[in-house]
Order: sequence, then C-alpha cells, then structure tokens
Amino acid sequence: MANRIRKAVFPVAGLGTRFLPATKAVPKEMLPVVDRPLIQYAVEEALAAGIEDIIFVTGRGKSAIEDHFDHAIELEGVLSGRGKEAELAAARGPVLSAGRIAYTRQQEALGLGHAVWCAREFVGDEPFAVLLADDLVMAETPCLKQMVDVHERTGGNVVAVMDVPREHTNRYGILDVGADDGKLAEITGLVEKPDPKDAPSTLSIIGRYILLPRIFSELDRHEKGAGGEIQLTDAMARMIGGAPFDGLRFEGRRFDCGDKVGFLEANIAFALARDDLADSVRKILREYH
Ligand code: G1P
Repeated sequence: MANRIRKAVFPVAGLGTRFLPATKAVPKEMLPVVDRPLIQYAVEEALAAGIEDIIFVTGRGKSAIEDHFDHAIELEGVLSGRGKEAELAAARGPVLSAGRIAYTRQQEALGLGHAVWCAREFVGDEPFAVLLADDLVMAETPCLKQMVDVHERTGGNVVAVMDVPREHTNRYGILDVGADDGKLAEITGLVEKPDPKDAPSTLSIIGRYILLPRIFSELDRHEKGAGGEIQLTDAMARMIGGAPFDGLRFEGRRFDCGDKVGFLEANIAFALARDDLADSVRKILREYH
C-alpha cells in the first residue's frame, strides 16, 4: 500500500441552501473570495501538498466546476488576440493536467460519508485526502501539507482540528482526546454534532482529512447517523483503535465560508493580504467603523 498521499477527494454535491438565491444557478463552491472561487483555493492547497489526482464528487447543476478547471478556448482566444497577458494567465491558471481529474456524481444527497464512498473506485487501496471547500484556510504552510507531514510520521489517519466555543459543538465532528502535546491530539472518540452539554471536548474537525482506505469498508455499511445522514465522522469513529488517528491543531486561520459572516470575513482577510488591494480595502473599511 502506497504511503504517499497522491489523491484528493472534493465533495462538491451540496446544495448550498444557506446562500440562496446566489446558489440557485451557481454552485456554492464557485462563490468567489476576492477573485477566485472557493473550490480553486481548495484545489490549489491540495496541489501544494503534493496531490496529483483530483476527484470531484459532484451532482446535478454543478457543471460550472468542470468548466472552471478546463480550457475556455474562446475566452483565451479573445484575451490572447488583445494581448491581455495577465488575464490570460488568470483564465488558464485553474486548468488541471489532462487525465489527472475525475468527476463522479453523488446521485442522492445521503450525507458526507456517502459522498466520500462514491469516490472509492477512484481512490482504490491507498491513503487519500478529503477537502471541503467551505472551510478556507489561510496559512503559511498549506493546511493539507501540514497534515501530510504528520501522516508521513505516523502512517495513520489525520484530521485538522481547532477549538470552537462550546455552544458551537453541534455544528462539527467533535473529538474525544487521549494523549495531547498541544499540537497533535490522539483521538479516542469522535461524535458528529453533539449538543454542547454532551460534547466530549470543544476540539472540532474542520474540512480536511487524511484517511486510510479502510474507511471505505466502514462506509460500505451505509449506516445512518446524525440528521439521518451517512456520516463520515461515524465511519471514522469505527476506525479508532486500529492505525494511529490524530487531530492536528494546524497553523493558520480558518474561515467558515459555509456561513455568510465567515464568507464575508474571508473576503476581507484575503483582500487585505493582497498587495494590489490592501490599501484601498483598508480605506473603505474605515468608513464603516
Ligand atoms: C461536516 C462534517 C463535520 C465537520 C464539518 C467541517 O459538516 O460532517 O464533522 O466538522 O463538515 O466543516 P457540515 O459542515 O457538512 O455540516
């Protein structure tokens, strides 16, 4: 079994109801933070972590994502004819190598665990990554790269984690923790979206996972959990006690772009990090104090 993480799965079938009407005809993963769609940040993070093969688990109404990662021949022709080099580079930037990208459809909305299970034939018998584009991480070392480095040491499952306010535990997969050095927390239990009073900790999973292929045999059971959905967290919980399983308190800042305020904050933070925009954005922000 290969140990290097070569493949990444991107579940992108979600309906994005929290952003209606914006997401009526546009996939939520295509909403832009500054000038790039959310999904492009996640794919770039994966590529920066050494990922070679990209698998999108998509759904009806999501074909804009496929177009985004392909050539736009007519647009490129126009830009090139007009000598617009920077714009041409921006249009070509997301194009992925031929044959290194696969799309499969999650035909029914049965949950995140089911979405990942849909990628099983593409992943095969090797450890792989899962990235949820809603969770955008700004970091010096890309979050997934930090996790790959941990996996290279442990050979086990790794999830990215952060502490959240106790009243928010019902939004996340929550860890029960054993040995903990402040950076890496050994996982002894996992529970999906517990009530604050029942949560074993406030350490929450954000949408970055490195999983051993055994997850697929756990997902094969199609057991329904929280919210009547097939939960990835439940399948992961059943793997505890086998291979090492750790939560990494990653370095960086995570923005919850599945939430309106988090999405707006990401736009501000990413704009302020850009040399071409920071000054003018800071200036307009002062007007809103
Ligand atoms: C999913 C997972 C949850 C995880 C979260 C991270 O929930 O089920 O365990 O903590 O992503 O964003 P969702 O946000 O899809 O409800």
